[in-house]
Amino acid sequence: MILQTPKGTKDILPDQTALWQALEETCRTVSKRYGYREIRTPIFEYTDLFARGIGEATDIVGKEMYTFVDKGDKSLTLRPELTASIARAVLQNNLMEQGATLRLWYYGPLFRRERPQKGRYRQFHQYGAELLGSAYPESDVEVIQLAYDLLRGLGLSQFELKINTLGNEASRLAYRTALLDYLRPRSAELSEESRTRLEKNPLRILDSKDPQDRDVVVDAPVYGGYLDEESKAYFAKVCEQLDALAIPYTVSEHLVRGLDYYSHTVFEFTTGLLGAQDALGGGGRYDGLFEQIGEKKISGVGFASGIERLLLLMESEGVQLATDTTTDVYVVTLDDESRTLGGQIARELRALNRSVVTDLQRRSFKAQMKEANKLGAVTVVIIGESERAAGKVILKDMATGEQSDCPIGEIAARFGA
Ligand code: HAM
Repeated sequence: MILQTPKGTKDILPDQTALWQALEETCRTVSKRYGYREIRTPIFEYTDLFARGIGEATDIVGKEMYTFVDKGDKSLTLRPELTASIARAVLQNNLMEQGATLRLWYYGPLFRRERPQKGRYRQFHQYGAELLGSAYPESDVEVIQLAYDLLRGLGLSQFELKINTLGNEASRLAYRTALLDYLRPRSAELSEESRTRLEKNPLRILDSKDPQDRDVVVDAPVYGGYLDEESKAYFAKVCEQLDALAIPYTVSEHLVRGLDYYSHTVFEFTTGLLGAQDALGGGGRYDGLFEQIGEKKISGVGFASGIERLLLLMESEGVQLATDTTTDVYVVTLDDESRTLGGQIARELRALNRSVVTDLQRRSFKAQMKEANKLGAVTVVIIGESERAAGKVILKDMATGEQSDCPIGEIAARFGA
């Protein structure tokens, strides 16, 4: 039997890569528009980084990480997200200057051992952006705006932005206590999973999809009632500025997100078109993360979006990105000497940055023309014995079918040299 990709992973095949590249290009363009610069970090990190950064009680750290001990007895983990890695890189490389704002973006594969289904994979890709150094609501708004522009830039429209606030540390603790007081007496009514989460991470029960939990959570205290004045004012500013920018959103009081590092603003972009895996991207403010993994206090806000889900939504909305898959020139050669000459012409045209394909199977004229067609070649250069003898080639415009002779010495000029 032919070996297969591991469960939850996929090949991205040559017919699909042009679209991936076009999507990546949109990510790059939008990042640049906002002044974000790219950062690339290792695919694996010391396990401790994620345990401390994302939180021991989260699903990601508790159940989903690909962790292994290497030959040097170190525990390493394939990155399940990138925010903790970015924070580590910023601290390690001293990227944060006092009083400055640091704007970073990233793109790459991540690994979570989840149950695979449509839109959920064990190796998937994210584009993300992180804004460090500002504790003001306008930075939350910048990140949300960037994410919104990315989705719109991809031509998407069937999505919704949900936002919420977890408030500052004091509000978070007050709410956690109130929620625990409400849930503990009802623990028998919760799903098994939520019962195990109850003491460690009660907030997560709020966004459980299990109908049993939903019934219990309906009457749970809402976050809003436990926010202090500072937290309320912060969130009000975020909403006010989103309104001013005409970015549509709904406040969703049960949105808490699955990672422990958030405080104040959290947000998610969701769609009704992708079934259960409806989150296109999400993020929020994480002012405590840097202290979790280092000694410094640095404010941060960011988001990340799953590339596979963006592609699925693009497909279901029927939107297309311009992709560059053209072959400029196909060189048809009909005998041995023509092949040598064809090779020289191909080399000359490639030096002019044209994409050129030659026949490598010594096929018939007909078969070569067929391949040229299949590749969508714009022009075909035909070289046979009689053309060569006359010091020329035939150029065929594949769109119009028109043929013309061209002296060998003038080919480069015909292609704009
Ligand atoms: P997250 O919500 O865990 O946040 O992931 C962000 C997005 O990645 C999701 O909304 C979804 O589109 C995609 N995603 C997550 N898991 C999978 C999967 N198994 N298969 C396919 N796509 C998936 C974070 O990762 C945070 N680091 C975001 C952030 C950045 N917060 C602040 N800065």
